[in-house]
Amino acid sequence: MKHIFLNLCLACLLAACGTKAVDYAPIRPGEIWPDDQGAHINAHGGGVLYHDGKYYWYGEHKSDSTSNALVGIMCYSSDNLTDWKNEGAVLPVVENDTTSDIAKGCIMERPKVIYNEKTKKFVMWFHLELRGQGYRAARSAVAVSDSPTGPFAYLRSMRPDKGELPFNMTEEERATLDTLNAAHYAKWWTPTWRKAIEQGLFLKRDLEGGQMARDMQLFVDDDGKAYHIFSSEDNLTLHIAELSDDYLSHTGKYIRIAPGGHNEAPAIFKKDGTYWMITSGCTGWDPNEARMFSAPSIWGPWKQWPNPCVGPKSEITFGGQSTYVLALPGGKGFIFMADVWRPKHPSDARYIWLPIEFSEDGTPVIRWKDEWTMNHFE
Ligand code: GAL
Repeated sequence: MKHIFLNLCLACLLAACGTKAVDYAPIRPGEIWPDDQGAHINAHGGGVLYHDGKYYWYGEHKSDSTSNALVGIMCYSSDNLTDWKNEGAVLPVVENDTTSDIAKGCIMERPKVIYNEKTKKFVMWFHLELRGQGYRAARSAVAVSDSPTGPFAYLRSMRPDKGELPFNMTEEERATLDTLNAAHYAKWWTPTWRKAIEQGLFLKRDLEGGQMARDMQLFVDDDGKAYHIFSSEDNLTLHIAELSDDYLSHTGKYIRIAPGGHNEAPAIFKKDGTYWMITSGCTGWDPNEARMFSAPSIWGPWKQWPNPCVGPKSEITFGGQSTYVLALPGGKGFIFMADVWRPKHPSDARYIWLPIEFSEDGTPVIRWKDEWTMNHFE
């Protein structure tokens, strides 16, 4: 009898292990990540959309010698987050018209795609720099598709929130803004210049033409409202701007975060009612220390936390720069995604994917791992 009982226990244990031991392929942060054709995945500064049981990874195609867009925005699809099928360029550059916003040789960065439940459309936003103008244009661009694998139809580009002030600006702050005059601050980085930046010197400068928008993120909240988060005001201040119900334009409602704080590469997620945002400082392609913010509402107040990274090279985000946080379906957890840029050989840039852990008080922690599997979330 005792034997039968023990054998039964063993059988149950094996059965339990059997269901758990799904053969997940390892994720190796920073290593080459081959697609279904054996080529290193080419989807940098990207983001992942989960739709109808499948994951879609969108990102910048990078060539071997330049970071400018010679191909366009790429998409890869997967059932398991480790095996990726190349779906090709879902928003290709325009080859034969140098006046197009997305003419070959322009800069298309940090594309993100969200699904609109009301219109049943897939909406892509990305940071656009016009061909031959370096990073001066600082525009946002939007494209739309009926299918997650495209083709995306390019709609237009703009500088967001033309003529609008942040909705939460107080009368006093508006009065101070009225007194600011860009002509008085020819020299950057002085204490008085810094103070004026915090008070909205560049916000005021760009009021008429719309706000600058470079590194960016999209976020869809539980109520279906979507937000566009971007580095504005010469990368000195982040903006969170509300998108219209169809996600194709800005409503004009926005806030500034950490004025003068020099944040870029925003990645945002929501857990247990708290909004978390991970950003980087501004050192171009070179890695720097990650920053973290939290807020009880998308509209703030946003509070800054220490660097969430732990492990070797945690002071430079393990050599990477944040690009996205993937919320796994079913509330299973969150994956932090970052890019290890290779400006001399852009297509060889690598991906850092790491599970986000939470300390006892609920603070996110990103711990380096040479290798891990999706079993982490089981
Ligand atoms: C980084 C930014 C990248 C790219 C790069 C160009 O700071 O995060 O997306 O714009 O600068 O130097």
